[in-house]
Amino acid sequence: MGKSGSGKTSMRSVIFSNNPASLTSRFGATIDFEQNHVRFLGDLILNLWDCGGQNAFMDSYLTTQRSTIFKDVGVLIYVLDVESRETEKDIHYYNEVLAAVAKESEGAGVFVLVHKMDLVRGNREVAFDRKKRELLERTKDIPITIFGTSIYDESLYKAWSRIVHTLIPNAAAFSKHLTTFANACSASEVIMFERTTFLVVATSKVQSSAVPVPPPAAEPSDLSLTMDDKRYERTSEIIKEFKYSCSRLREEFHSLELELPEFTAVLDELTKNTYILVVVHDPTIETAAIQMNIRLIRDKFE
Ligand code: GTP
Repeated sequence: MGKSGSGKTSMRSVIFSNNPASLTSRFGATIDFEQNHVRFLGDLILNLWDCGGQNAFMDSYLTTQRSTIFKDVGVLIYVLDVESRETEKDIHYYNEVLAAVAKESEGAGVFVLVHKMDLVRGNREVAFDRKKRELLERTKDIPITIFGTSIYDESLYKAWSRIVHTLIPNAAAFSKHLTTFANACSASEVIMFERTTFLVVATSKVQSSAVPVPPPAAEPSDLSLTMDDKRYERTSEIIKEFKYSCSRLREEFHSLELELPEFTAVLDELTKNTYILVVVHDPTIETAAIQMNIRLIRDKFE
């Protein structure tokens, strides 16, 4: 939910319909709400409601359609345009919607996306922190998680991976099994992506021992120096764009191998609905061995 033009349909289309961000400028306003069922992981189906944000619709959600809209909500995602000039009106609806969800669907997760961060002139971090403080100030009694997002960069994938993660019932088990697999094939990290959206489903715990220690002259050994914080969401974004390029050439994306001096990475299909990315820092481990290991675990993850 969120004000008209804040970018709800655009993000839905980028994440779930694999459309490029540039296409979204052609979208018209959503009339009332649009409901979509997205098959996510095997039997897990996400029931997504994109609620048009014009004032007349918002008023109707909060009154006559209240129980239709706000009952049995798993997660509410409220989208706010960071550049909006109608701040008071935005905040009015924001407070009303959050209160309605808290009342009608106790325990629903609430995510607030401060969206269109690419439009911020000046320091984005400062602008985001200011907005975040303001929102937290106005939402004292309801726990919320806030992200800064844009359809033009990886920030959207970070937010949506976190959102969807809260809805996957066995996410912790996936993580445990991926860590076992990472250990078994001396991988520094193993990441599981959902097939269509390329959102991160689960990751292994980073295997520090599998990442080479820098030479003594370099900075002290610290994983944060060698592993980029944004690596998950950037991979999602890059692969989604690559898949889109493949589809324009009428080719289907299947797998990817990268052999660089620092590390080797193999991205391959794991199950009907997932891909797996295995990152290895040991140069003696061949990609064929990684692929064979992936083949061997497919049945266990299916
Ligand atoms: P309603 O359906 O009326 O509720 O609007 P909406 O929230 O669904 O907005 P929509 O997705 O239609 O987006 C409105 C405009 O914002 C479009 O022109 C998009 O291209 C643009 N937009 C969406 N996300 C972003 C973003 O991250 N950055 C920028 N610069 N523009 C965006």
